[in-house]
Amino acid sequence: MSFHLTSILYFVVLIITLLPQNSDGSLNPKFEACEAKTCGNNQTISYPFYIEGIQEPFCGYPGFGLSCGNDGFPFLNMSNAKYMIHQIFYNNNSMRVSNAVFSTPNTRSSCLRRTHNLTLSGTRLALAPNQRELILLFGCDMHGKNTIGCSEENKTSSVVAMNREDQNLRFSLMNCKGGVVNVTVEDEVRGVQEALRRGFVLIWTVSDCNKCRNSGGKCGFNTDIFSFRCYCPHDTHARKCSQG
Ligand SMILES: *[C@@H]1O[C@H](CO)[C@@H](O)[C@H](O)[C@H]1NC(C)=O
Ligand SMILES: *[C@@H]1O[C@H](CO)[C@@H](O)[C@H](O)[C@H]1NC(C)=O
Ligand SMILES: *[C@@H]1O[C@H](CO)[C@@H](O)[C@H](O)[C@H]1NC(C)=O
Ligand SMILES: *[C@@H]1O[C@H](CO)[C@@H](O)[C@H](O)[C@H]1NC(C)=O
Ligand SMILES: *[C@@H]1O[C@H](CO)[C@@H](O)[C@H](O)[C@H]1NC(C)=O
Ligand SMILES: *[C@@H]1O[C@H](CO)[C@@H](O)[C@H](O)[C@H]1NC(C)=O
Repeated sequence: MSFHLTSILYFVVLIITLLPQNSDGSLNPKFEACEAKTCGNNQTISYPFYIEGIQEPFCGYPGFGLSCGNDGFPFLNMSNAKYMIHQIFYNNNSMRVSNAVFSTPNTRSSCLRRTHNLTLSGTRLALAPNQRELILLFGCDMHGKNTIGCSEENKTSSVVAMNREDQNLRFSLMNCKGGVVNVTVEDEVRGVQEALRRGFVLIWTVSDCNKCRNSGGKCGFNTDIFSFRCYCPHDTHARKCSQG
């Protein structure tokens, strides 16, 4: 009899101690899902970015899905081309990227493949100020101070880098049959090849995450209502987590 009573009491106490944790203590699954991740290097990936297949799209802003390269770097598709993300600066909404063609070593040859023009209109991305625009001319029938390498499509021809204002541009255009593309670089102090490898800086303009992050939330986006969301430990808000 007393044995039964103690075990029943024990059971009741057990249920009482478990109950509050189940009703109040359960975490918002979206808060848990939007934990920052990496592609393997030490770059953290969080809003407005998300890694496709690893993080949920609701953890990022539409169009900011990344993929991971074998080298641990994240990649972003822009204008149907792959761009390597060297570093993300969450403090000033910017990142340094480079066209993967210039930054991933080509094992078959050291020649440069022709790339695309990057078009940012209609996206949430823009070039940061104080960067330089260059023109690359492919398939050139000449070698000179502006030559930066051979052309992948025809290895006996060259690739030439020029400023748009260069007085020799018209002459070069006549001698280059492989097409031209605009490229952006930060500076050319260590040469054009190195500048292309290092890439350039892009700024993003999307709903700001700071208020939410500073209130202990994780930022995200709901594509059904096309709105920013702040995932708090126990619920979801429009801007930031309520205090207390
Ligand atoms: C970590 O990232 C910093 C830039 O944020 C970089 O300079 C450093 O080399 C990285 N360290 C490792 C071990 O990858
Ligand atoms: C980028 O484009 C490639 C094909 O060009 C595709 O396989 C990949 O899933 C895309 N990645 C993202 C993050 O959209
Ligand atoms: C943001 O800050 C980093 C250094 O923290 C700097 O390299 C980068 O150029 C800055 N971005 C812009 C747009 O100024
Ligand atoms: C390759 O480039 C060289 C030098 O510009 C040129 O003489 C040759 O005709 C090109 N070959 C083809 C197949 O276009
Ligand atoms: C890139 O843009 C320029 C105009 O600025 C154009 O002449 C050129 O054909 C474009 N290149 C490609 C590969 O589309
Ligand atoms: C190439 O750059 C020039 C200015 O440097 C610009 O007028 C032109 O629109 C750009 N073309 C493309 C396709 O981005």
